[in-house]
Amino acid sequence: MKTFYLETFGCQMNAHDSEKVVGTLVGQGYEQVDEPAAAELVLYNTCSIRDKAEQKVFHRLQQFKREGGRGKVIGLLGCVAQQEGEKIFERAPFVNLVCGSASYNRFSELLVQIENGARRVTGLSLDTQDTFETPLTRRDNPNRAFLTIIEGCDKACSYCVVPFTRGPERSRTSQSVLREARELADMGYTEIQLLGQNVNSYRDPSAAGLNFAQLLNKVGQVPGIRRVRFTTSHPRDFTKDIIDAIDENPVLCNHVHLPVQSGSNSTLSRMQRLYTRDEYLRRIEWMKKSSRNIAITTDIIVGFPGETEAEFAETLALIDEVEYESMFSFKYSPRPNTAAVKMDDSLDETEKSRRLTIVQEKQRAIQIRRNAELIGSREEVMIEGFNKNTLQWIGRTSQHRTLNFTALEDASLKVGEYRHVLVTRSGPNSLVGELA
Ligand code: 5AD
Ligand code: SF4
Repeated sequence: MKTFYLETFGCQMNAHDSEKVVGTLVGQGYEQVDEPAAAELVLYNTCSIRDKAEQKVFHRLQQFKREGGRGKVIGLLGCVAQQEGEKIFERAPFVNLVCGSASYNRFSELLVQIENGARRVTGLSLDTQDTFETPLTRRDNPNRAFLTIIEGCDKACSYCVVPFTRGPERSRTSQSVLREARELADMGYTEIQLLGQNVNSYRDPSAAGLNFAQLLNKVGQVPGIRRVRFTTSHPRDFTKDIIDAIDENPVLCNHVHLPVQSGSNSTLSRMQRLYTRDEYLRRIEWMKKSSRNIAITTDIIVGFPGETEAEFAETLALIDEVEYESMFSFKYSPRPNTAAVKMDDSLDETEKSRRLTIVQEKQRAIQIRRNAELIGSREEVMIEGFNKNTLQWIGRTSQHRTLNFTALEDASLKVGEYRHVLVTRSGPNSLVGELA
């Protein structure tokens, strides 16, 4: 039996790509193992969104070299693979396979070349109209499934590597998406998470010609599916009909992740985000007017080149105005090939860290306050697991909050079930409750 080990870094797109790659490998007669030492083929599916993420995989490779991984085939997949390409062979000569996500349709073929004795193989072309789909996908979670609707990105945010690592935008046909959604429902999945770097720019290439909101509506009507989420959105392409769809169909989760990055028009312009603060806030207003009580979450970058104290203050004011349910915040990290790498990145690390702390403390206070407002309410959760240390079940609400709860021992709960829980306590990052 041929064996492989795969470690995944980065976002949900990467996690789902790995599920497809694992399926491909198993289909080709490989068995997955839990330790690199036990594997003949060691794969890393990499992320290069920030320098820290990129360094992780080079640490892994060094570690591997120290520990003498002789006789193994080493492959780099994903965003670092695409970004660094052939240069990886100079930096890590023992690597045998380098393949970016836009070339996964060729992954099987590259594997065969390696099996036939090739020392170095690459899949690095970004010139593609294809998406990567396979009926062999091995999903990690038996209840919640990722489903790709669009790959790549045609935006040019000046800080972002993704257009260089994942290639041009290409949408799947609505027929193919809906077929997969129905198959997932037949297999027993009840939650679907639609994936794409920018799901809002989805354009059905088939004659049906659905836009994103129309596709969302259709996926939300698949019998057996109880929750549909989507990630990630871009404010420029985020249209009102998405909110109308959420308003009308309770299967569509009342959660929207709408990355703003900055609250300052001048910073947004240098970031090439293609929207203004007011345009962004208009979208927030649509959501706040919705009857569904939509949870809004976001991403923020602090310390972008040239970000003045006044511009930073505008981001803080926007956070106060929107009152996000939760947030991911990052210090700007210069990335190769991007437009911003040529800008003057003169804010030092200490200043970036100071701004990050201010943002995070502000957000923490908002979350403490907002989560406390939920005490006494009843929330439906999907059960995700059981924590043996706290003896609490782990639940996830439609708004994507974690709600840990206790239940009598004879309640006979199972992971994947939906139950109602009474919220009794709250913290900055989660809620606590009792089975209702
Ligand atoms: N530096 C810091 N953060 C970044 N992000 C993307 N590129 C960079 C970068 N160069 C953040 C953005 C994005 C999230 C996925 O990562 O906030 O929305
Ligand atoms: Fe990382 Fe972005 Fe690539 Fe996802 S798309 S793996 S976040 S660089």
